[in-house]
Amino acid sequence: MNKSFEIILVTGGLGFIGKHFVRRCLDNGCFVRNIDKVSYAADLKSMVEFDAHPHYRLLQMDVAECDFLPECDVIVNFAAESHVDNAITSNKQFCQSNFMGVQNMLERVRAKQARERPLFIQISTDEVYGDISNGKHSEADLLKPSNPYSATKASADMLVTSWGRTYGIDWNIMRPTNNYGCQQYPEKLIPKSAWRMRRGQPALMHGDGSYVRSWLHAEDTVDAILTVIERGERNSIYNIGSDTELRNIEVLRAIAEHLKVPEEDAWMATGNRTGQDVRYSLDDSRLRELGWAPKRQFFEELPGIVDSFDFMRFS
Ligand SMILES: NC(=O)c1ccc[n+]([C@@H]2O[C@H](COP(=O)([O-])OP(=O)(O)OC[C@H]3O[C@@H](n4cnc5c(N)ncnc54)[C@H](O)[C@@H]3O)[C@@H](O)[C@H]2O)c1
Repeated sequence: MNKSFEIILVTGGLGFIGKHFVRRCLDNGCFVRNIDKVSYAADLKSMVEFDAHPHYRLLQMDVAECDFLPECDVIVNFAAESHVDNAITSNKQFCQSNFMGVQNMLERVRAKQARERPLFIQISTDEVYGDISNGKHSEADLLKPSNPYSATKASADMLVTSWGRTYGIDWNIMRPTNNYGCQQYPEKLIPKSAWRMRRGQPALMHGDGSYVRSWLHAEDTVDAILTVIERGERNSIYNIGSDTELRNIEVLRAIAEHLKVPEEDAWMATGNRTGQDVRYSLDDSRLRELGWAPKRQFFEELPGIVDSFDFMRFS
């Protein structure tokens, strides 16, 4: 990695994508500081693993309340409440972490002398665009979030671009599509469905299972973020798409097939999510022009991921 990006401040680095990023940065020889409040979504096994590394330090804090900025060359802001169903039930914490947390971290950057300010990388989401029946969303498209989670993420993106213009902070916004990978918290589709099927319970399927999502391995997301840190155009937005677009029912079928659960026992329809997005799809040609492309294949990776889930974490 570029020498000038050797001290990395990660927020939410004990969460699903953040821990993959932290592990890679430590493997690459970087120094990593991690601001994580250690919410229900934090992985305590990773906390123990990282704590043993001499280049790592955890600052157990809330990004919305943190009152200082440790020395760093780049901030990668993963910290967020990330589960749409929780946002539909109760949205206040989403505003606090996803919006006020970004406002606070941007202010911490602004408080530094201009030449000491780190690059601010905001991890956004494909959900800020809302859904799209045909075609793909490009970075220039209008933001039309459909639920409180995606609304807080879209609002945070606007904070970042405006702090860039008004205060001269250097930034990139990255908008990944649905991530899959090892040790995701079991509120999300793949681990939750695998857990239920393993326990002889049908997975819960929204509607008729026809909603379409694109699937991106968390390690491919890490590759994308490192690509932008190393050679991205500053003060611009990058979508992170995937080559695998699937209906939810196809994901459930693949899990059932691997776990040898007959289809008739594998899932049941459940009440639909209010404001459900029908399909997400991203045009990520800007990022691919930098030489990035997803390397992992969904159907090759899925069995190992399902087998690796730590089901003790789920109870
Ligand atoms: N998982 C996906 O498929 C996906 C897709 C697109 C974008 N994203 C975005 O990527 C980021 C990471 O997602 P994830 O799935 O790893 O999330 P996650 O829910 O697994 O982990 C979130 C982490 O952030 C921490 N955290 C939450 N609120 C905090 C706060 N106020 N202060 C400090 N720490 C806090 C939690 O303790 C946890 O460790 C999020 O910003 C999310 O919006 C995720």
